[in-house]
Amino acid sequence: MIRVAILGGGIGAQHLAAYDRLDGFAVTHLVDQDADRLDALCGDRIARLTSVDAALAADVDLIDICLPPHLHAPVAISALAAGKHVICEKPLGTSLAQVDAITAAANASGKTVFPVFQYRFGRAFDQLRALRAAGLVGAPKAASIETHWNRGADYYAIPWRGTWAGEQGGAVLGHAIHAHDLLSTCVAPVVAVTARLGTLVNQIETEDTAALILELDGGALATSSVTLGAARDETRMRLVFEHLTATSDTLPYSPAEGTWHFTARDPVDQKAVDAICADIPEGPQGFAGFLTEVGKALNAAPNHAVTLADGARSIELVTAIYASARALSRVPLPLPATHPLREGWQP
Ligand SMILES: NC(=O)c1ccc[n+]([C@@H]2O[C@H](COP(=O)([O-])OP(=O)(O)OC[C@H]3O[C@@H](n4cnc5c(N)ncnc54)[C@H](O)[C@@H]3O)[C@@H](O)[C@H]2O)c1
Repeated sequence: MIRVAILGGGIGAQHLAAYDRLDGFAVTHLVDQDADRLDALCGDRIARLTSVDAALAADVDLIDICLPPHLHAPVAISALAAGKHVICEKPLGTSLAQVDAITAAANASGKTVFPVFQYRFGRAFDQLRALRAAGLVGAPKAASIETHWNRGADYYAIPWRGTWAGEQGGAVLGHAIHAHDLLSTCVAPVVAVTARLGTLVNQIETEDTAALILELDGGALATSSVTLGAARDETRMRLVFEHLTATSDTLPYSPAEGTWHFTARDPVDQKAVDAICADIPEGPQGFAGFLTEVGKALNAAPNHAVTLADGARSIELVTAIYASARALSRVPLPLPATHPLREGWQP
């Protein structure tokens, strides 16, 4: 049994619901400064704590960080030093220097860090993986992704949001980071970015709009459109490969759970594509899928858990996006060790 302390009861409530659906985990402690949240989530079975330090001292195996972004790196490093494995909500850190410090702490402790990217887990990406294994996908050519969500005054009523000091970034860091992880994972890693950013929807410090050109390893070209001023919340992906085109549904926060269309370029292949897709069962999705893979990793079983390197890659892309938007230039990846934004992109 993996004993877990959850830090933060906002999105942490969804983590808790996922743990409760799975065998092999026991959430024993929950930390929040908000008594109402503790009341709503803890019941009789979970110890209520109000300080992070108390959780780090508790007899648990895994610290699940669901705190505001500026706390992620310091708390992750303290948790590793206390001998705990770490799950860390996005963003893993708020600079590449912070990510380097987390990596050093993980190496020193021998414990594992799992950055949260739960959008990866669901039937559609299992289908894509199976189609690829069957040789029906081929090389990536083009992709378009939309993170078109709606955020207004109620969302920004939580004081840390929309600020450089609290949220540390805007839609590129906090919202589109999921879609960009999916692009890197399901299509190919990003090798260069050209970005334009705007604050066009809400009166906040950080960006709420982005237009990105993403050059992918192997030569494919992708575009990413991001806004927090859409009429509804929709995430859309269209991935064009040599042998098939994959088109998502519009589910905003769980794209892998919608019905995707996989269309063979050569109609002769469509039957085989459809047969493979039909054979893929619905496994654990979203947070439950993410945590299932964490459980496998901690039990030394083969797994698809999100890695520290995946989290680092996402922060490197965010850094490159800010660098590109500010210099109005194309930024190649990986960034050099001397890059001026390695210590952070916050103005
Ligand atoms: N993976 C996803 O899809 C997803 C979705 C939403 C949020 N998030 C991420 O989760 C993190 C938290 O976001 P949220 O929306 O839950 O925020 P939130 O503000 O709703 O919840 C954070 C909780 O942490 C508590 N807290 C803050 N500082 C604390 C401290 N020092 N000690 C103890 N408790 C403290 C607050 O009281 C609050 O209840 C952010 O990094 C956000 O980007 C991820």
